[in-house]
Amino acid sequence: MEGPAVNQSPPPLFVIAILAAAAFAAPTLAQSETAPAALPTSGFSATFDHYAVAADHPIASAAGAEMLAQGGNAVDAAVAASFTLSVVRPFSCGIGGGGFMVISLPPKNNTPDAPRIERAINYRELAPRGARKNIYESLKKDRASLDGGLASAVPGTVAGLLYALETYGTLDRAAVLAPAIRAAREGFAVDAAYMRSAMSATERFVVNKDYQTRFAFTWERLLGAGAIKLGDTIKNPEQAALLEAIAQDGASAFYAGPFAASMIECVNADAHTAGLGPVKWFTEQDLKLPRVSDTEPLTTTFLGKRVLLMPPPSSGGIAIAQILGLAERRELAKLWTEGNTASYAHQLVESFKFAFADRAEYLADPKFSPVPIDKLLSAERLDNFASRITPSTSHGPEYYGEPGQIGNDGGTSHISVIDAAGGAVACTETINTEFGSFLVVPGSGFCLNNQMDDFTTRRDRPNAYKLTQSDKNMPEPGKRPLSSMSPTIVLDADNTPVLVAGASGGPRIITATTQAILNVLIRNMPASDAVAAKRMHHQWLPSVLEIERGFDDTEIMRGLGVSMWMRKLHHDVKETGSGAVVQMVARRPDPTTGTSRLDAASDPRKGGSPAGE
Ligand code: GLY
Repeated sequence: MEGPAVNQSPPPLFVIAILAAAAFAAPTLAQSETAPAALPTSGFSATFDHYAVAADHPIASAAGAEMLAQGGNAVDAAVAASFTLSVVRPFSCGIGGGGFMVISLPPKNNTPDAPRIERAINYRELAPRGARKNIYESLKKDRASLDGGLASAVPGTVAGLLYALETYGTLDRAAVLAPAIRAAREGFAVDAAYMRSAMSATERFVVNKDYQTRFAFTWERLLGAGAIKLGDTIKNPEQAALLEAIAQDGASAFYAGPFAASMIECVNADAHTAGLGPVKWFTEQDLKLPRVSDTEPLTTTFLGKRVLLMPPPSSGGIAIAQILGLAERRELAKLWTEGNTASYAHQLVESFKFAFADRAEYLADPKFSPVPIDKLLSAERLDNFASRITPSTSHGPEYYGEPGQIGNDGGTSHISVIDAAGGAVACTETINTEFGSFLVVPGSGFCLNNQMDDFTTRRDRPNAYKLTQSDKNMPEPGKRPLSSMSPTIVLDADNTPVLVAGASGGPRIITATTQAILNVLIRNMPASDAVAAKRMHHQWLPSVLEIERGFDDTEIMRGLGVSMWMRKLHHDVKETGSGAVVQMVARRPDPTTGTSRLDAASDPRKGGSPAGE
């Protein structure tokens, strides 16, 4: 078996630093979405004439573009890019996790006057049969919902991607899986984003030495036993073999037969080590549950355009629809045009707070707790929120809703695609935090998710990610944890996709995706600037306005940086890293030809680049 080409001599400086710090510091949370000090100023965006794919790794974007070059559609491209991300971004997403895909395709066979195909595919993980509401409250171990088998929900990615491919794609399994298999066999180079996540995960393995044997594959092969370094090559023949089996036999290679049996055995053995009683965590029945739901997307309008969003258990769709509704009501476009940068920023942040307060109170898996979507998006409610946005001041949290707390996380990946026929896909996937639960089914080469932590795991205190949400989001068998993933497609009046966007970064997904969209639709930026622009984040609670380092250099009004203005308006401002990574494809008119071109950008904060033609 091949492992990563890692340096086995003295540990790198970051491990030495971690070892020294570990003696004093409490374990910290993964924060690897934070941008490096210097961001590339080119290479992360490009303009194409026919089709474009923007993933957060160049090999994944190229995999998607390869499908489009073969005559595939946007779904084929997204599926190929996603399977490839499973290999090259093993800390973000993959076949051990789940995701959401929003699709907008021209009618089948291009039947004139037939409606476009607009779907929202939900393959978010499901809590297993062993789950119960107080499972984590009853366990002494604080990290049971984060590390190891008890943190894993039943993965949905393989089922979801193959469902999307078979229902809406055009190519066969072998074709869409080929780039991922190639990447796993030939290997890929460790980049800066990988290193940031590896450093964060290594900290956990240094603090908990038993993890080095308990999660041996992650430690030895994905973290190079703490010695991985920039430029190392990681090969993953184990995942290649599993992907080949999926190419040949379909989802049954994952959810039935010997692989499924070893997944159940591995998860249950680890869950028992973590203190689970006599019940089983994963069962064969769990793997047979329907894992994919295919519904209409949530829709809203913004400045004359139609916006397709992900319905619950995404909280992002409703939140973005609310924020856009408030942006129209508060005339943010006018404020921007008049140069009122600070007022624009303040009123946008106030909108975030109303949306996040609703998220905390109302959002959960609608199969278990009905979500009052109509009420949340009603004109009355948005008019009311809009009337309560005060241009001259911000308020305490109780002004926006019943206090709770929403935290952050670091994994996740987003792919945006527009194909040559006008099809579009926005796809966001995650294994939750970096390297998920760390648990790898023997011989499989991928990390199982730790998505159970997106449930409300403990009612009496915030969980390890400072996340306390409503009881409606407590774990139950077959339930999906609430998510912030926000894949979004914007269509022109004639139904041409003009923008595809989404992000990684926990709750920052919502605010980053919204700002990137507004950067195009209000500020008329090209995708490169829209994605690279510094961002703000407010999630209502904690009542802190995060302003990305460097924001003030670009957003100046009457000589003052925005953070100074925001302090004047009584925001509690904290300067931070970005915490989110956006991928976007936008159609922009090309005045030189009188047609349009596709402007694609993979957020420079994570080192991706788009591909297309
Ligand atoms: N695990 C991150 C999210 O789904 O929001």
